This record gives sequence, C-alpha cells and structure tokens, in this order.
Amino acid sequence: MKDIIQLRDRKFRVMIPAEEIDRAVCAVADRLNADYADKETPLFLGILNGSFMFMSDLIKKIEFQNELSFVKLSSYEGTESTGVVKSLIGLNGPIEGRHVIIVEDIVDTGKSIEHMVHDLQRRNPASIEVCTLFYKPESYKKPFPIKYRAMEIGNEFIVGYGLDYEQLGRSLKDIYVVTE
Ligand code: IMP
Ligand code: MG
Repeated sequence: MKDIIQLRDRKFRVMIPAEEIDRAVCAVADRLNADYADKETPLFLGILNGSFMFMSDLIKKIEFQNELSFVKLSSYEGTESTGVVKSLIGLNGPIEGRHVIIVEDIVDTGKSIEHMVHDLQRRNPASIEVCTLFYKPESYKKPFPIKYRAMEIGNEFIVGYGLDYEQLGRSLKDIYVVTE
C-alpha cells in the first residue's frame, strides 16, 4: 500500500486500510442478516458505478435468499432553471411488494439518494432502506433516514474501494483522503 498517491492534480493519503473496511462491511451485513432473515427474497439494488466493490463484498456475507441488480442515475441538463435532473435507468422488472435495499458508496448531501428513493416509492415496494458504505452526517440534510451506514466521515473528499476522483481511484482497496 502506498501512503501517498497522485490522481490528476490532487494528492491523497491513506485514511482507512482494507482490513478496517472489511470489519465495517461485516458489521453492517450482520445487521441486515438479523433484520431481513424472515423477509421474502429482498432485492439489493446497487447504484453504479461507485457501489460495485461494496456490493461485491457485502453480498458474500448475506445469509438470506436475495436478488441483486444494479441501476444508474443518469444526470442530464434540464431545460428549465431546475438545472440538473436525474433519472433512474436500468431497473428491469416490477418491484411492487418487494423489500428493496439500496446499496450506495457514499451519501453526502443526499440529493442522489433522494431521487432514487422517490422514484422507487412510486413503484410500490413493500419497503425501502438505504445501505451505504460511507455517510457524511454534517452534510446530509434530507428527511429520509439512512438506516444502514457502514462508516461515517466528516466533510472530506475520499477515493478508493469504488469511489472516484474524476473517474480515477475506484480500484484501490484502501480509502484515501485528499490532502490540501
Ligand atoms: P450526494 O447526492 O451529495 O449525496 O452525493 C452522492 C454522490 O456524490 C456519491 O454517490 C458519489 O458519487 C459522490 N461523492 C460524494 N462525496 C464523495 C467523496 O468524498 N468521494 C467520492 N465521491 C463522492
Ligand atoms: Mg455514487
């Protein structure tokens, strides 16, 4: 593991080693295993691209029968003053009556997750919860409660384990934080 790495114009230093991430993923998987043990085939919905590595490790620790799928939030410039509008793409099949667990890499302001939750709620699932690897409590201002948070961080910018800086850094197995 390198202590300092360069991604484009920024330097990053190691913040959370892989072993610590693994412990946090185990702990959140234990909670899911307890809460969903008696639920009918829950559906894990990962948000691409950031959640691919978290999903891969998390799902191996899940002990109940499940289905897994990935979706993407596509941003496009709206024609109105609302600016960027996001829509959910890649969801195949109905989710009516299903227990849905959204798997996210990081919840920051909550804008992305709010879009996702609103879109899914219109499709009448039995329940929706969010399971995120990282949560920024100082930044999150939305009303929807984020029930499963593997780790919490301050208002810092991190990369690695699926998270990117301008598309770089996703393959790193440790988490790095930007240095000034
Ligand atoms: P939100 O909509 O503000 O909650 O932002 C969520 C999205 O922004 C995440 O899914 C990430 O793609 C990106 N993001 C937020 N904070 C970070 C970070 O520290 N590192 C990398 N990506 C981040
Ligand atoms: Mg993301």
